[in-house]
Amino acid sequence: MAILLPGGAGYIGSHTAIELLKKGKEIIILDNFSNSKPDVLEKIKKITGKEFKFYEIDYLNKEKLEKVFQENKIEAVINFAGFKAVGESVNKPIEYYINNVSGALTLLETMKKYNCKKFIFSSSATVYGNPETIPITEECKTGETTNPYGTTKLFIEQILKDLYKSDNSWDVCILRYFNPVGSHESGLIGEEPNGIPNNLMPYIVRVANGQLDQLSVFGNDYDTPDGTGVRDYIHVVDLAKGHVNALEKLEKEQEGIYIYNLGTGTGYSVLDVIKAFEKTTGKQVKYKITPRRPGDIAKCYADPTKAKKELGWVAQKNIEDMCRDSWNYIKKNSK
Ligand code: NAD
Ligand code: UFG
Repeated sequence: MAILLPGGAGYIGSHTAIELLKKGKEIIILDNFSNSKPDVLEKIKKITGKEFKFYEIDYLNKEKLEKVFQENKIEAVINFAGFKAVGESVNKPIEYYINNVSGALTLLETMKKYNCKKFIFSSSATVYGNPETIPITEECKTGETTNPYGTTKLFIEQILKDLYKSDNSWDVCILRYFNPVGSHESGLIGEEPNGIPNNLMPYIVRVANGQLDQLSVFGNDYDTPDGTGVRDYIHVVDLAKGHVNALEKLEKEQEGIYIYNLGTGTGYSVLDVIKAFEKTTGKQVKYKITPRRPGDIAKCYADPTKAKKELGWVAQKNIEDMCRDSWNYIKKNSK
């Protein structure tokens, strides 16, 4: 029985593929390379020494997707496919709703047809909007997302809840990621944002290696210890391992719908991250303070107790590991 990974060639999917292969799981990756490159597949094989099947398919293509289910015995699906750029989603809402929401629906419909009912979904801390309480538990109110990308996550979560209500032989795990950073220690795979990065760590590494001139720190007047935004950065390898634990829970336990925060529980400000990066790598990060970025919130970090209790998962890597591995990847891969 295989685990299907739509979007498995992307940043989080490729790291998860490695952890699943290391655990001896059979995996199948499906991707259309809209935001990834084919060479990642060889790199996963190189790192793990294991083989797996791959389909170059758009997961919205029902006929081709069905073929994957006809040709393989699929036990569970971990869905990473989708678009994820917050700013772009504001300008292209239709594309985002189609790719993320219709894509998830096509996948679920096909799974139902082939009686495959174990589903793990890549959600995001963005579903909490501006959180009412910090640290954020899974019970905190969701909603009031500030962009179409975030709303696609909220809609898909609701679809999954409705699906489980209609038929509780579904077995669903919603993983709400906090801020994934870093890369595999080999430096072979990592995050490859298109164009100028929007997220903090990819921007920092490009300032440090001279690709970008300086970082804009978006606001220093938030209600945080140093005034800059506080987030829960989590090493992508820790995040990837969380999927293995989630899968094992679905394999072992009774059907249900489960929701977990995947974060470290520690918040770092933008200035904390800059300092940690400089200390770990010895590289300077030039920055200036600029006005707040619209839609940003002051603080966002997880209470990860539920994942520890129910999945036996705890993030192991610290901010230095995250900085070192983010830097290692860019050093090895910049032209
Ligand atoms: P990514 O863009 O690196 O990976 C997504 C993959 O899906 C890419 O390989 C892309 O080519 C593929 N894909 C997109 N549309 C497809 C389609 N129609 N058919 C087939 N493949 C398709 O993104 P990521 O950072 O690895 O994120 C994975 C998931 O986690 C996404 O759903 C994202 O929204 C979610 N997430 C990411 C973050 C983050 O900060 N990276 C945070 C929270 C949640
Ligand atoms: N920041 C800067 N300068 C930059 C980029 C970011 O100061 O050039 C600051 C932001 O203002 C924020 C912090 O760094 O305080 C983190 O910003 P990111 O853009 O890296 O991350 P966000 O928390 O804004 O959002 C990310 C993903 C979302 C996801 C969310 C929660 O982009 O998709 O984490 O998982 F929903």
